[in-house]
Amino acid sequence: MSSAAWDRVKAEAARLKAVHLRALIADGARCQALQRTAAGITLDLSREKLDAGAMEALLGLAEAQGLPAMRAALFSGAPINATEGRAVLHMALRGGATPPDGDDVEGTLSRMLAYAEDMRRGPMTDVINIGIGGSDLGPAMAARALRPDCDGPRLHFVSNVDGAHLTDTIAGLDPARTALVVVSKTFTTQETMANAASARDWLEAQNGPAAHRQIAAVSTNIPACTDFGIDPARVFGFWDWVGGRYSLWSSVGLSLAIGIGALRFREMLAGAAAMDAHFREAPLAENLPVLLGLTGLWRRSALGMQARAVIPYDQRLERLPAYLQQLDMESNGKGVRSDGQPVATTGPILFGEPGTNAQHSFFQLLHQGTDPVPVEFLLAARPRETLGAHHAALMANCLAQGQALAAGRTQAEARQMMAEVGFAPAEIARLAPHRCFPGDRPSTTVLYETLDPRTLGAILALYEHRVFVEGAIWGINSFDQWGVELGKELARSLMPIMQGGAADGLDPATAGLVARLRELAP
Ligand code: F6P
Repeated sequence: MSSAAWDRVKAEAARLKAVHLRALIADGARCQALQRTAAGITLDLSREKLDAGAMEALLGLAEAQGLPAMRAALFSGAPINATEGRAVLHMALRGGATPPDGDDVEGTLSRMLAYAEDMRRGPMTDVINIGIGGSDLGPAMAARALRPDCDGPRLHFVSNVDGAHLTDTIAGLDPARTALVVVSKTFTTQETMANAASARDWLEAQNGPAAHRQIAAVSTNIPACTDFGIDPARVFGFWDWVGGRYSLWSSVGLSLAIGIGALRFREMLAGAAAMDAHFREAPLAENLPVLLGLTGLWRRSALGMQARAVIPYDQRLERLPAYLQQLDMESNGKGVRSDGQPVATTGPILFGEPGTNAQHSFFQLLHQGTDPVPVEFLLAARPRETLGAHHAALMANCLAQGQALAAGRTQAEARQMMAEVGFAPAEIARLAPHRCFPGDRPSTTVLYETLDPRTLGAILALYEHRVFVEGAIWGINSFDQWGVELGKELARSLMPIMQGGAADGLDPATAGLVARLRELAP
């Protein structure tokens, strides 16, 4: 990273490490300056360990690293995914960028949506999406997020090669009224091919060869879909400039579109396009993806925090952490820069669960553990349904957690609280250390009116562009995923052994595991 700009960021971090968040959140003007709204999304950074000086240094780093030029290159369709020689233009799927000449984005989308509408008219009652990674997580997460909008056939998602996933999904489904959507960018992924073949066998066992009419496919590898026996009329393509984890907006969204219908699918695209326009045009200092990205980089590289927790106080976003794990960690979990040189720090470990559930499991560590973990809360102002005081309780919990993380509770406060409720002095001395909270733990809050298709689109595009911002400043390629290849290769070579072949040429550790498996299931 540019050394003068980076030195300034480090100096700001050293200064702010000595300032407790309790003091920072008491400054109203600072808090106001750290809240921004665009495309229906409010980003509140008031509980981050940031102030005007730190933000200025971070913006200086973004300029020094050439972020504006890299953003322009992204939107121009330049082959910024250099290790694969590809452009990165998923924004073009939603009207947020211009697609390459000759790629008929609108025609492909209309054809996919027309098929989805046709499916919504019946007679199928259930649709199983078969795919993994980006061919599963996006549609599965969005179908859950938009449950109130899902008024088509019931949607199911099968991803794991573990036969339990398909078995449990089809149990109780009628093979005469169940359609399959096989989604795979490459149409070679082991898990998806195995599940697709077994699901096709299940349909054929009931309906014979006519079952093929119940199968559609989404891929960039059209010949492989035809070889699998899928009629080209039910094959929906996309392009190599769409990364798997950025593909929800393409034909990969077919099963979601069957669930929510064409109009709502287009609303989701429009929400994402609004965030694209904001990211492309807004000055860095007012730009939500830039601010969110800089905050991530600040915590990870300047403050040394190794993880990030994403906690949606929105039950229907329960699969958002899993979706973001792929988006964020597959994109920015890299060890070398684009030029092949080692890089000091890159993407953090991302995990999460919906609030309030997470409060009753791992929040103990977030509040009192030895390693501060920054948190990102997501919260709607309005629920999709009215149910007593549930939403007020949800909002109260969300705001309280950020407050507790930031301000904490001192020993003196813990002692006073215990005295007020009648603890004896000896008990106070013994228990007070357990009842105080260090605080000074940062969190970001993302607010929106309500979780509808447009808002979901904007939230996802915000996170997509945040990944780009972080990766661009770290100088890594956020759009390849070579790190998943070695395990796939080794699994291919172990497959004959797992099917009973000679266990030759294995290292002793692997050979020992194979031997024990064979003892357990001779
Ligand atoms: O193994 C990782 C990966 O390549 C992801 O990037 C991708 O989303 C997933 O596998 C599924 O790939 P495909 O859509 O080609 O089946």
